[in-house]
Amino acid sequence: MFADTKLLPPDPILGLTKLFQDDPRPDKIDLGVGVYRDINGTTPIMKAVAQAEANVTAKQTTKAYTPTDGAPGFGPAILDLIFGKDSETLSAGRAAAVQTPGGCGALRLAGELANSQGAASLTLGEPTWPNHVPLLSAAGLKLNSIPYYDRDANAVDFEAFKAGVSKLGPKDVLLLHGCCHNPTGADLSTEQIDEIATMAAAQGFLPLVDTAYHGFSKDLDADAYMVRKFSADLPEVLITYSCSKNFGLYRERTGALIYVGPNADNALAVKSHATSLARRNYSIPPAHGGAIVAEILSDAALTALWREELSEMAKRVQGNRRLLARTAENFGLHNQLSFIAEQAGMFSLLPLTDDQLRAMRDEHGVYIVGGGRINLCGVNENNVEHLVRSFKNATAP
Ligand code: LMR
Repeated sequence: MFADTKLLPPDPILGLTKLFQDDPRPDKIDLGVGVYRDINGTTPIMKAVAQAEANVTAKQTTKAYTPTDGAPGFGPAILDLIFGKDSETLSAGRAAAVQTPGGCGALRLAGELANSQGAASLTLGEPTWPNHVPLLSAAGLKLNSIPYYDRDANAVDFEAFKAGVSKLGPKDVLLLHGCCHNPTGADLSTEQIDEIATMAAAQGFLPLVDTAYHGFSKDLDADAYMVRKFSADLPEVLITYSCSKNFGLYRERTGALIYVGPNADNALAVKSHATSLARRNYSIPPAHGGAIVAEILSDAALTALWREELSEMAKRVQGNRRLLARTAENFGLHNQLSFIAEQAGMFSLLPLTDDQLRAMRDEHGVYIVGGGRINLCGVNENNVEHLVRSFKNATAP
C-alpha cells in the first residue's frame, strides 16, 4: 500500500524551525513559528502556569477519562473569560464550550460541525494562516477566498472584503480572526466589525471567529469585542479558541470550540453534535492543559498573576513593533516599515518577494514564513540592526 509513497515537503511554518535549528550562523534570526519569546529568545513557562500545574498534580487522584467536553471546570471558565462574567449571552445559557486538542482541533471540529449541518461553503479573507486551508478543507468544506489585505497599503482592504462578504447567504460560513490577524497583524476596527455584524444579521451567514491570540492586542475585554458583538447581535456564532499563546500551553494542545445559539436548548443540542463528532475522531481531549487553565481561572491570585504576565508579553511584542519601525527609520528606510508599529499581535507581513525572502534566509540567516510573515517576538535590541540591514540589502534595487 505504501511502497510508492513520496516524501512530502516540510510544513511551511513548523518546517522552518528545523531549518533554523540546523543553521550554524551565530547571528541567525528566527521570525518563523508563532510562539512568544523573551529577550533571550526563550519561550518561558508562565509563573501562573507553573504554579497551577503544581496544584493540579498535587490534587490529582486519577487518570480515568474526563467528561466528553473536557477537563472539569475548563469550559465554564473559558466562557467567562471570553464573554465576561456579566454577559447576557452567558446568563441566557446561549453559549456552550467543548474542550479541543488546541486551536487546530477546534477549527477541525468547527468545520466538521458546519459540514454536518449542511454548510455550503466556508469563505476566508486572503491572506490567512496557511494551516486554515488544509484544516478546514479536510473537514469537508468547500473553501472560497475573498480579499482582506492590501499589500501596497499595508492595511485591511475593507471595501474589497465587504464586496466578498456581500455575496454570502444563510448556508455560508465566514471565517474571521477575532484579534491579532495572522499573518497580517491588521485587524478590523470596531466600526468595521459592527458593519460585518449588520451584514450577517441581514444575509444570515454564520461567522466562525478564530481566536488564537486573546489578550495580545489591547486587553482581554477589548480583544473579545468581535465575539461579544456577534453573540449579542446574531442568533448563531461559532468560535474557536486557543490557549497556546495566551497561557503559553503550546504543546499541551489546549483549546475550545464554542457555539452560541438562539437559546439554551439549541446550544446544548449543537454541543451534543460537537462531542459526538469528536468521539468519532479523537474521542476526548487531553486533560492536562485544560486542568491548568481551569485551576488558574478559578483562583483569584493565579488569575491576577496570569493577567499580569499576559499583559507584559503583549507589551513586549508592541515594544518590538516600535523598535523595528524606529530602527528602519534610523537606517533611512523612510516610512517603509512604519506600518508595523500600528499593527497588533505577533505578526506582520514584510513587503518582500519570494527571491528577497530567500536572500534574507540564505545570505543573512533571517528566517521568515513564506509570503513575508514575521513573528515580532523574534525581534530584540540585539538583533534588530542585523534584521533591518538584511532587509535593506535584500530589497536594494
Ligand atoms: C503560527 O501561526 O505560527 C502558529 O499558530 C503555529 C502553527 O501551528 O502554525
